[in-house]
Amino acid sequence: MAQIPAPQGLPILGNTLQIPSHSPVEHFVQVASRYEEGIFRLEVAGRTIVLVYDPDLVAEVCDESRFVKRIKPPLSIVRDFGGDGLFTADHDEPVWGHAHRILMPAFSQRSMKAYYAQMLEIAEQLVESWAGRQGEDLPVADDMTRLTLDTISLTGFGYRFRSFDSPELHPFLQSMGGALTEAMLRNQQLPFVTKLKRSHEEAYRRDIADMQELVDDVIRQRRAEGGAGSKDLLGLMLEASDPQTGVRLSDENIRNQVLTFLIAGHETTSGLLSFALYNLLREPHTLARAYDEVDRLLPGDEPPTYETIMKLDVIPRILEETLRHWSPIPAFSVSAVEDTTIGGYPIAKDQGVAVLLPVLHRNPKAWERPDEFDIDRWLPENKKSHHRAAYKPFGNGERACIGRQFALTEARLALAMILRRFAISDPNVYRMKIKQTLTIKPDGFTLRVRERRAHE
Ligand code: HEM
Repeated sequence: MAQIPAPQGLPILGNTLQIPSHSPVEHFVQVASRYEEGIFRLEVAGRTIVLVYDPDLVAEVCDESRFVKRIKPPLSIVRDFGGDGLFTADHDEPVWGHAHRILMPAFSQRSMKAYYAQMLEIAEQLVESWAGRQGEDLPVADDMTRLTLDTISLTGFGYRFRSFDSPELHPFLQSMGGALTEAMLRNQQLPFVTKLKRSHEEAYRRDIADMQELVDDVIRQRRAEGGAGSKDLLGLMLEASDPQTGVRLSDENIRNQVLTFLIAGHETTSGLLSFALYNLLREPHTLARAYDEVDRLLPGDEPPTYETIMKLDVIPRILEETLRHWSPIPAFSVSAVEDTTIGGYPIAKDQGVAVLLPVLHRNPKAWERPDEFDIDRWLPENKKSHHRAAYKPFGNGERACIGRQFALTEARLALAMILRRFAISDPNVYRMKIKQTLTIKPDGFTLRVRERRAHE
């Protein structure tokens, strides 16, 4: 049987030292360009990892009867703070099913409508803040982080970070950044090296404790308010039981879910919005279409209604094409249920396989002119011809992103509000530099705005 192609490594260390710790994904993309087979293997920190990016092979690993999500590095490290929350719960843990079924109603389209007023409130804070800083270099990723963190915490937990009131990012984000960066470093360290780095361990535990303290504050505040009645994420977790088993979530699990949602619910959407603005600045024709759309559907200064935001067509397609070009989560992993093969290559039971999204999403086998930013790929008549496994920005199957509608609704609204009010420009001619923690973002990207219409 053919062996999975693999770059030459060193004895014991394998390929570990070849992977730059600050940007592993960019390295994987480079390695992938050498293997047209759409699959390769690496030996990292004593483990074998298999990466796939051929759409037919990805279709195989997306078969949930053959491959399931198992918590291995890096997710087993993130589990230090995500615990048994949805993101870092194993396929076999019953608590995943309990929480999934309890929380699903909070992510229905009807719930998006219920969150809309709060989403709008925070989006308005963003545009007001930018209106007061016209002509300045605006730190895009930081401001998108303010927007998305404040939105998930207000809609999900009724908690206000008030990020736009302060020139500094909230300390929660410092702790989160520290913990995620350390998790990524540990992913490439042999365990004995991690043990030797005492000061890292202390800082890591402090960051986790600080995040948990904030979570406890969020829950305490809700309990002090009486807790009852609210149908937001926290309200459901405190009160609802699993419709299938009648089980309620433990206090410990609720704490893990709140922290999971605070992280997963903002970090990715802020990356999506930052990359979308980056793309628009490079695609004047598409930007002009977006301005046209907001001028047509959102004339005047009235706050847009939920129904209007749902009518947008160009902006959602900009978001879809942005997720193809730059997936904020650049890879997700599954493990083989039994010994098997993919594309004729052997995969042993429990072997992890990572789907490498930046390469899959630009694979010429699935995409014409893959490097072109073309939002018309997402017209309904063109979508029909897409390969069924060539686009996976939200992961796969039952473990796919529960917050997809939430992210897309929030991002539609924010982009529409920005483009209705401002002409955006990039006088510094930013060159893409990826910053990777568990997600990717454009590092050091700034833009400038000026009002498009005169406001008295
Ligand atoms: C899972 C991407 C926004 C909450 C996932 C996964 C991906 C993903 C790829 C699967 C991970 C895996 O298989 O290991 C994204 C992207 C987003 C986004 C690209 C924005 C553009 C959100 C938002 C929320 C959220 C806004 C919450 C409000 C979650 C949770 C999971 C998850 C809880 C775990 C689901 C489970 O296994 O049951 N996301 N996400 N995400 N996402 Fe998102």
